[in-house]
Amino acid sequence: MTSHALEPAEQELLTLSRQLLDAIAVGDWATYERLCDPSITCFEPEARGHLVPGMAFHKFYFDLGAASGPRNTTLVDPHVRVLGDSAVVSYVRLVQRTGADGRPATATFEETRVWHRQNGQWRHVHFHRSENG
Ligand code: GLY
Repeated sequence: MTSHALEPAEQELLTLSRQLLDAIAVGDWATYERLCDPSITCFEPEARGHLVPGMAFHKFYFDLGAASGPRNTTLVDPHVRVLGDSAVVSYVRLVQRTGADGRPATATFEETRVWHRQNGQWRHVHFHRSENG
């Protein structure tokens, strides 16, 4: 966890990041779309080394529906850096789930998410996710 008392903007950004990950976990496209700028860019393993712009790439996965089976997402040691009307949120994301054999498995991702305050509201504008086992 961030080692100092969180400023209100930092707490808000952590809450929004949590909402974003919860929306991904349950396949809630409306919430994901509301939190993101339409011109969002990303690097993530699914993009195979390319910087992908826009929302269509992400909607593809939401349209497949939420993953079945129990899962639990934990943000480990999140760090928030507010830079005026922009902010960077970094953390390790642990996703616990059951594998094909029914046994529990944990996936680990390093994530950096960039937010931009637009008309008083934080919108997600870029992220980089690396899978780490
Ligand atoms: N792949 C969607 C996200 O991590 O925001």
